[in-house]
Amino acid sequence: MEQEQEYDGAVNSKIHYLFGSQKIDSHKADTTREKALKSSNHYKTVAQEVAELKPSLPVYFIRPNSLSRAVKFFVNNFRSNKFASDILYSVKSNPDEAVLKHLFESGVKHFDVASMAEVKLIDRLFGKEVKMYFMHPVKAREAIFDAYFNHGIRDFSLDSADELQKILEVTNNAKDLGLHLRLAIPNSHAAIDLSGKFGILPSEAPSLARKIRAAAQRFGICFHVGSQCMDPVEYRNALTIAKQVLEEAKVQADVIDVGGGFPSSYPGMTPVALQSYFDEIFDSLSKLGFENCRVWCEPGRALVAESGSLLVRVEAKKKGMLYLNDGTYGGLFDAGFPGFIYPVKAIRGDRNKAEFSGNIPFGFYGPTCDSLDVMKGPFYLPENIAEGDYIEIGQLGAYSRSIRTEFNGFNKNLQIEVSDEPLISMYKEVEEQEEALTSAV
Ligand SMILES: Cc1ncc(COP(=O)(O)O)c(C=O)c1O
Repeated sequence: MEQEQEYDGAVNSKIHYLFGSQKIDSHKADTTREKALKSSNHYKTVAQEVAELKPSLPVYFIRPNSLSRAVKFFVNNFRSNKFASDILYSVKSNPDEAVLKHLFESGVKHFDVASMAEVKLIDRLFGKEVKMYFMHPVKAREAIFDAYFNHGIRDFSLDSADELQKILEVTNNAKDLGLHLRLAIPNSHAAIDLSGKFGILPSEAPSLARKIRAAAQRFGICFHVGSQCMDPVEYRNALTIAKQVLEEAKVQADVIDVGGGFPSSYPGMTPVALQSYFDEIFDSLSKLGFENCRVWCEPGRALVAESGSLLVRVEAKKKGMLYLNDGTYGGLFDAGFPGFIYPVKAIRGDRNKAEFSGNIPFGFYGPTCDSLDVMKGPFYLPENIAEGDYIEIGQLGAYSRSIRTEFNGFNKNLQIEVSDEPLISMYKEVEEQEEALTSAV
């Protein structure tokens, strides 16, 4: 406790958010962010922050440059001269205010929201400057009411006749609804399968499609190919199914929403270039004859994953396992059960110690008392890494901060904006190729 107080005092002059505490100084953060936008040299590096802070708590590092690079890539490339398109950021992947503000400043003006907490957050931050879409197929009546009447939301996804009835009853049969039928489609190439819980089977979809078409001002078809989809052909397969449903139902869609699923890059899971996903989508849309549709996508992971990393401290080392100050009940959920392997970088806690040796494989234990708080990796780190050293774990800008729990009281963390490049970047490579082409001309 004493150590934490001392630590909190040490970072008072920085941009920081103490998760779950009253010490969030958002005014200071805003002013600092504005200054930072004017001067890209403003932020320090991870190494400088670690040397200065010697943090006892887990620390999120976020990279504003990396966020704007990802947004720029989507804005410039998720498009075609045949289709109008919109990019809806999927708030659940990282609802942190600083991240949201950077995304907005970089050009994100549409948000896929899934709960009233997300709706209220986006409304409070950006108000009428943005549009929200309630793309959770099962919503409480109170949420539909609040979203429609108090927050101006008109677009909702659904996958059953009961949900259609619910939406119509709650909105008094509103005539200005955008209703988007969620199809269940195979998630065969995704690291995280989302096909079991939501979506109507294509064989059952045509009759519901006709009912929704009759009730909606704007009728859409949506789906999710599963998170971290490793093969662009999944989008073609899903669009082929969507087309069959529309043909059988004999209705036209106004919107085709290809959902999220766009991958990021992880050790052992390097996807083909994102551009191939976009090419596959727009080529399929043309060939299948979706010409008059507006095309939406709902990226989460691909927009934010590489911008964030998590710094953890080694508290003990035993038989090939490192005991960390964060784990699966904190920011490392996906390193547990789905077994994601993240890029890692060791940082000496005490710079006077011997140089790091060569790498060997380690597994991690988190700080709680539950034996499920284990991450088998392997994570390749120096053989002589020791208690008091730090590990920067990359690609944690998505599905990390947002899914932390309070279990065992280990929920506190800090967040700092830094200037470093991510440990792995898909977008930097694209930027470098573009720069090389420009300088060759
Ligand atoms: C409806 C919906 N849209 C978008 C996303 C974002 O997916 P991803 O992070 O894979 O891009 C999710 C993730 O669960 C989702 O459920």
